[in-house]
Amino acid sequence: MTPHQLRVIQYNNDIHSAYKWLWALDRHHGIHCGFFDETTHRHVDAVLNMNRVMAATVRITCDDAVLDAGCGIAGSGIWIAREVGARVTGMNINHAQLQKAQRLIVRYGLGSKIDLCLGDYSRSAFKSCSFDVVWFLESLCCSEDKALTIQESYRILQPGGRIVIADAFLQREIQTAEERKLVADWGRGWGVPDVLSEAAFTRLLVDAGFAGVQFRHHTNNVIPSSRRIFITSLFLKPVARIFCGLGLRSSLQLDSIVSGLNQYYVRELNIGIYGIVSATKPVL
Ligand SMILES: C[S@@+](CC[C@H](N)C(=O)[O-])C[C@H]1O[C@@H](n2cnc3c(N)ncnc32)[C@H](O)[C@@H]1O
Repeated sequence: MTPHQLRVIQYNNDIHSAYKWLWALDRHHGIHCGFFDETTHRHVDAVLNMNRVMAATVRITCDDAVLDAGCGIAGSGIWIAREVGARVTGMNINHAQLQKAQRLIVRYGLGSKIDLCLGDYSRSAFKSCSFDVVWFLESLCCSEDKALTIQESYRILQPGGRIVIADAFLQREIQTAEERKLVADWGRGWGVPDVLSEAAFTRLLVDAGFAGVQFRHHTNNVIPSSRRIFITSLFLKPVARIFCGLGLRSSLQLDSIVSGLNQYYVRELNIGIYGIVSATKPVL
């Protein structure tokens, strides 16, 4: 485990109770933005809707074997297994999250549909061509070596298999030192070492061998989630500062609140965008 990965684990463990209350985690189990559209206006519905949009993007069917790479507490796995009927493997470096996921899987009676696996999505022990779909929902951003992660996804996909990634990206390359600092401060508190531009990310997929890369812009669909995080962070910051000073909260919790503010500024300044990206491993 790298120091960065240990930080990602600690960050996710430290924010769990806040997410439970402020993100209504118990109602959807998703640690990600909601996808708001003409028919989806409420937070909980929008978080679930993100799964629907991603599944439709790569046309997941009940015959598919899906790897949910960086699965959190298995929110997407549960949605895919229940709504589509596909088999899902949830992979995570975070043992505590997998324990929570396991309890949910039992609660929903999905033990025959979902497996969990402790491990790094960049260096998995899966055999080549094991999956029909590799799914990253706001988890690829945590990767320290995104090229390696994409290459590994390519290896474990069947020919004809699909990859789908929903995440934040940069609209363009960073131009000034201020922009660099803002993006770094945004990433630091959320365990995101770097944020790639649309062009750089597309190149990684193509270089790994993927075909039919499609980058769909969905920034407008996640704005209500971005605002929700921003407003919550605005209220929590002074309290967290005091609690952190008294040693009652970790510095990671304070950093994550600062990230909650910075994600909003990055988007408002048109530096950050939200995209759903898909591609196919060609049948050679
Ligand atoms: C923001 S959470 C998103 C979780 C989930 N995809 C969801 O939408 O609810 C990011 C997740 O990626 C996991 N993760 C980060 N780096 C990972 C790695 N190298 N291998 C496996 N999982 C990883 C984290 O532990 C965390 O569960």
